Amino acid sequence: MGEAQSNITGPDFADGIAATDVPEGGMLLGHVGADPVLLARRGEEFFAIGAICSHYGGPLAEGLMVEDTVRCPWHHACFSLRTGEALRAPALSPLACWTVEQRDDKVFVRDKKEVPQRKRSARGALDKIVIIGGGAAGFAAAEKLRREGWQGSLVMLSDDDAPPVDRPNLSKDYLAGNAPEDWVPLRPEGFYAENGIELRLNAKVAAIDPRSREIALANGDKLPYDRLLLATGAEPVHLTIPGADLPHVCVLRTLADCRAIIKLSEGARRVVVLGASFIGLEVAASLRARQREVHVAAPEKRPMERVLGAEIGDFVRALHEEHGVIFHLEEAASAIEKDRVVLKSGKTLSADLVVAGVGVRPRTQLAESAGIALDRGVLVDTLLKTNAPDVFAAGDIARWPDPHSGDNIRVEHWVVAERQGAAAALNMLGERAPFIDVPFFWSQHYDVPINYVGHAEIWDEIAIEGDIAGRDCLVRYKRNGRSLAFASIYRDQQSLEAEVAMEQEGQS
Ligand SMILES: Cc1cc2nc3c(=O)[nH]c(=O)nc-3n(C[C@H](O)[C@H](O)[C@H](O)COP(=O)(O)OP(=O)(O)OC[C@H]3O[C@@H](n4cnc5c(N)ncnc54)[C@H](O)[C@@H]3O)c2cc1C
Ligand code: FES
Repeated sequence: MGEAQSNITGPDFADGIAATDVPEGGMLLGHVGADPVLLARRGEEFFAIGAICSHYGGPLAEGLMVEDTVRCPWHHACFSLRTGEALRAPALSPLACWTVEQRDDKVFVRDKKEVPQRKRSARGALDKIVIIGGGAAGFAAAEKLRREGWQGSLVMLSDDDAPPVDRPNLSKDYLAGNAPEDWVPLRPEGFYAENGIELRLNAKVAAIDPRSREIALANGDKLPYDRLLLATGAEPVHLTIPGADLPHVCVLRTLADCRAIIKLSEGARRVVVLGASFIGLEVAASLRARQREVHVAAPEKRPMERVLGAEIGDFVRALHEEHGVIFHLEEAASAIEKDRVVLKSGKTLSADLVVAGVGVRPRTQLAESAGIALDRGVLVDTLLKTNAPDVFAAGDIARWPDPHSGDNIRVEHWVVAERQGAAAALNMLGERAPFIDVPFFWSQHYDVPINYVGHAEIWDEIAIEGDIAGRDCLVRYKRNGRSLAFASIYRDQQSLEAEVAMEQEGQS
């Protein structure tokens, strides 16, 4: 999590500034009283909204203005300049919005506008929507349905014991001990009742019957639906080597998993992370912040090479080594014992805590037993519909036709899951909201964020602009001369521009 930018800087817009100080299509950072404000200009129109992103506090003045919206430089949330509404995840809350007055050649930011009344919609008001999953996609769908003013019955079922949480934080600041408890839930406890969302926790769905439009819970309860969203996410792959079920061996998906790691780490001197995946390495960084000795053992030659290529892989390795992580690459574990991990080479690593970050698999069992079409995930069309009537799928389980790569893809990205949840909500209301967003993810290692837009499973060329080791780069992954994806470190503007260019290419 980055640091919220709250210092007041720039002109006081209440005193007015010359209209010419705001360039056409540009933005200016200033303030009104104690509120940081972004003043933006589109032709003769001026807009004023809060300057701090409602996700993690990103500085919107360093983002990108696109028509009458602004995108956050940190994780690409998008806000309406007209209303402050959070149009795209990962931001969910709106920003304050002010009236702007133009007088002579000057522009004055005046009063804060009232928060717009929630829309009320009679669409399908008697219908029942059931969401299976209380993660990114399920939460975003429920939130969107209510934001759209939909009045029908809304049940969200989760087999987790915690309400929807900010999952990316579980391997980052929360695990590192830098985030307070109240950063973890996506919304405060009262949110669900206040918004008529019947959130049922510890509620495992055992079966779906698309013909009778009914789902069966593991406790025997039955629940009818008119429209159903499958958002069951993914689950960690569990090791099958001897000792994998010992009590000091953990995986990380849920808040309970994270708390278990924190508790075990308190009495641990040495931690072994198995797997040099994004999550494995974020865990390594967070446990280094807790001053634990951390070893990472993984079969690959370089961390993250499959997704980010050799060059960034080498950089990530060096970055972790700088922070004291010890790698054992091209080494897989063959057994785990009470106080050590045995590697296939015969080498042993002493370990009081073992965290396995060896990948996840989509939770498709429910869909499969209901006869819903699968292809290494649940197959959906561009409206996120499965082949079963009125059953939609979103998030880590969904494989969708991605217009940018031209392939059917499935990804495990927080922002994609949330945006798919929101798009599925609109489609469940009968709108046609094709999911055409360019995939985006970020990963954070110590003070270095890596942002990635697009999707390149296979590439034949990597073009590097800038200096990876200097933490200032844009890396393009190309196939047949065409850029399919971009990874960047501290090149937020270019990352946003690449995203917009890919969107425009997808529309043409
Ligand atoms: C520690 C960690 C850090 C991450 N960091 C990042 C990051 O920095 N950037 C990024 O882009 N992505 C990150 N991710 C990935 C991101 O969190 C996922 O892509 C995202 O959560 C997927 O959302 P989802 O709704 O599909 O699934 P989930 O968020 O996993 O939610 C699935 C929900 O379904 C419920 N469920 C499943 N089966 C059933 C059933 N049968 N009955 C009832 N409920 C059921 C689960 O309990 C859960 O509530 C991270 C993931 C983890 C674990
Ligand atoms: S801080 Fe703005 S999107 Fe995350």
